[in-house]
Amino acid sequence: MASQPQLNTAVRPQTLVSGIRSTGELHLGNYYGALRGLLSLQDRYDSFFFIADLHALTTHPDPDNRIRQTIEVAKDYIAAGVDPRRSAFYDQSSIAAELAELHLYLSMVMPLGELIRCPTFKEKAKKHPDNVNYGLVGYPVLMTADILIHKSELVQVGEDQLVHLEIARTITRRFNQLYGEVFPEPHPLVEHAVRIPALSGEGKMSKSDSADAYVSLKDDPERIGTKVKKAYSDPTRIRRELPGTPTREGCNVYHLHSYFSHDTMKSAIREQCLSAKIGCVQCKALLTESLVSVVEPIRERRERFSDADIVELLHIGSEKARLSAQAVISEVRRAMGFTMV
Ligand code: TYM
Repeated sequence: MASQPQLNTAVRPQTLVSGIRSTGELHLGNYYGALRGLLSLQDRYDSFFFIADLHALTTHPDPDNRIRQTIEVAKDYIAAGVDPRRSAFYDQSSIAAELAELHLYLSMVMPLGELIRCPTFKEKAKKHPDNVNYGLVGYPVLMTADILIHKSELVQVGEDQLVHLEIARTITRRFNQLYGEVFPEPHPLVEHAVRIPALSGEGKMSKSDSADAYVSLKDDPERIGTKVKKAYSDPTRIRRELPGTPTREGCNVYHLHSYFSHDTMKSAIREQCLSAKIGCVQCKALLTESLVSVVEPIRERRERFSDADIVELLHIGSEKARLSAQAVISEVRRAMGFTMV
């Protein structure tokens, strides 16, 4: 995994970008990969948070739900702590013109073969063989445009997106080789670049799985409890009296504890599971407690905002994002030799 860049923060704060597609209910994986720590991040960095409604088009062409989905994701962002006065908070399509232009330039420096070999492209193409669109191949290039349009050094993403960030770095280097040092090389915030597992124990937690495999940021405590009770745990612990395997690899429930429970709870669980003092039922009840303590404050806060509040906030954020994007586009045009003097 790439290390954090050591840039001189005395000159100006580093710029951070994070985005979430508007394709369904957000879950605890999205929370960890994209929403966690927003409060302190926006104090430390010049932050740009957006709803990736253009990226959503690769798999979700449905126009009727578009604004609804954008508003729902925006509410989760605000409830998780985005302060639109401190950060630029916007919908990606509100700067579509600037992004489309940068995407075009970047597409000219990125070899097609590398995009076609990208594992996420292969996976999506396999899953939706009837909709292998051009945008799907260029998904990482548009993502690079999202990052470079604000000259960001840092990107908050989950582990599944690191492969796209590698492509973003390749594009940045190639662009800079051709046109001069226009862009900084972007890096992930490593502490957030993790992979939260599905409750089912099969792969990562994902919006496209059945609702029982993920904990939605809209789930109430009862629903979280019901889902966690059904979660896959340690397959080797076939009787209550046997010791368990409280490791990330050995037990899916412990794996989730490792991200969402406090250190004191984790060490107590480890010790009591190894000595068979607690069983999976109690361990799951503790996990429910931890997950509820993450989800409940977000669920409560999102109710405080009306749709009109959100539309207004996005409007203000889009203006900020557009100013930043237009300044970068002007610089890019100059560097590429498009500006007549
Ligand atoms: P999306 O909506 O698929 O995911 C949003 C964020 O959630 C993270 N994530 C996870 N993190 C940990 N464990 C999981 N199980 C899990 N599932 C999802 C994703 O890694 C992501 O950070 N392509 C991006 C959206 C985007 C973007 C960008 C992000 C578009 N342009 C530019 C950063 C910078 C995505 O995966 O969205």
